[in-house]
Amino acid sequence: MGKTIIISNRLPVQLQISNGGISAIPSVGGLATGMKSVHSGSDSIWIGWSGLTDEEIPKKLAPKIDQALAEHGSAKVNLTAKEVDGFYYGFSNRTIWPLFHYFLEYSEFELESWNVYKAVNQKFADAILEKAEDDDIVWVHDYQLMLVPQMVREKRPDISIGFFLHIPFPSFEIFRTLPWREEVLEGLLGADLIGFHTYDYERHFLSSVRRLLGLEVSFNDIYLNDRIIKVDSFPMGIDYKKFSEAAKEHEKNTTAQQSELQQRLNNHKRSTPDAKLILSIDRLDYSKGIAKRLNAFEYFLNKFPQYKEKVRLIILAVPSRSNVPQYQLLKKEVDELIGRINGDFSTVSWTPIWYFYRSVPFENLIDLYTSSDIAWLTPLRDGMNLVAKEYIATRTDKTGVLILSEMAGSANEMNESLLVNPNNFEQTANAIYEAINMPIEEQKARNTELQKRLERYNVERWANDFMSSLKEQKERDAANISK
Ligand code: ADP
Ligand code: G6P
Repeated sequence: MGKTIIISNRLPVQLQISNGGISAIPSVGGLATGMKSVHSGSDSIWIGWSGLTDEEIPKKLAPKIDQALAEHGSAKVNLTAKEVDGFYYGFSNRTIWPLFHYFLEYSEFELESWNVYKAVNQKFADAILEKAEDDDIVWVHDYQLMLVPQMVREKRPDISIGFFLHIPFPSFEIFRTLPWREEVLEGLLGADLIGFHTYDYERHFLSSVRRLLGLEVSFNDIYLNDRIIKVDSFPMGIDYKKFSEAAKEHEKNTTAQQSELQQRLNNHKRSTPDAKLILSIDRLDYSKGIAKRLNAFEYFLNKFPQYKEKVRLIILAVPSRSNVPQYQLLKKEVDELIGRINGDFSTVSWTPIWYFYRSVPFENLIDLYTSSDIAWLTPLRDGMNLVAKEYIATRTDKTGVLILSEMAGSANEMNESLLVNPNNFEQTANAIYEAINMPIEEQKARNTELQKRLERYNVERWANDFMSSLKEQKERDAANISK
């Protein structure tokens, strides 16, 4: 078996130019954080965009960029500012992202950005073709690169190609509104295996293939000319050990070894022993339901006023896609809502919401997960939501309550959490009340089950399942063709 070529828009690190030099910061988002563990333990190369446009890279730094990426087992695809605009900020994040997350009204259908998307997908495909040797396996990731499988297949029909979608695949009624719907499906069908997080996304995809392309579909096989393409669901896991061990190590820290954040959180606990800390962590994205969550928090404070001065909500929001107008509007809305709620409810000794708008190092993520009594993650729509899984993995003493949206892919595997419809404030406020008052024994019983499942279906198992399924599929397809 040859090497695996992983290809995604985002690399495990993003490059930045600071003080005339290059620095690499870890990428945020489920794809990058999840695949990082898979990549580090295998014979693979990861191809993607560095996060810098060609215009931003001074000539003299170009060799350093390649070197910095090579240190992370990665290689870059060069993109101009115009390409990033049409491909990333344009078609990927102003057309596909909103459409696939059921925000039809945000979705823009512009021929110009579709054309750039096609051209940039060809660039990614060419980068693969340049590196691909016989027996290599190509694993293409996510909605930014949906045309790549077919572009690679055209030139290298012999190579195994897998595709995994990290976001939801919407129902046929939504998908059919895309003007280039057939081309997108045909692009994906260049793969031998197409994977989704959940069974529902898989069914939606098969339904679109049947109804839009008129292809024969039997169970999860698609028949296309002399090929069989397999479609299946593979719910992505986390690097369970990394999170649980980091939490165990964290407990051993002496005060001097603790981060400033950890010391502050500990002080807060000591000074208000019966107060509860509720944590919410997301990229600042409208699909995550942050504004609705804030409204629901206000509803909760009004419905259960006995918890004023007793609960604190920590909102950690990572800046994301800030060139897209909807994200700028959301930032404004969240800033205003937090300002208003804090203004209305604060007392001299209590601010209900602590708001951090930034990416934080891994160590601080662990500080927050381990210090919070409740994790409140209520996206309006989410392919998976790995934060929910990470929170549970860090609960070494098995306490802690997860309030999770039914609309997150991870809800399928996390039935022991308190599942809510994020649009239902009454139900959400009651869930917070239940979480605050849940007996420790019940918390432990729920988390024991969740932890067992997350430990078993970790990210390594996810990648191995996908890879063995791809291998099996390639053999089955070869046997079929030679018949
Ligand atoms: P998405 O992929 O849509 O961003 P996920 O919940 O699946 O959502 O994945 C988010 C990933 O980004 C998680 O692995 C999480 O640890 C990481 N992350 C989220 N917020 C932050 C933050 N503020 N700082 C650093 N990492 C973060
Ligand atoms: C989601 C997508 C990823 C993306 C990540 C962060 O997880 O599925 O493809 O990398 O969000 O978004 P960004 O636009 O910063 O890459």
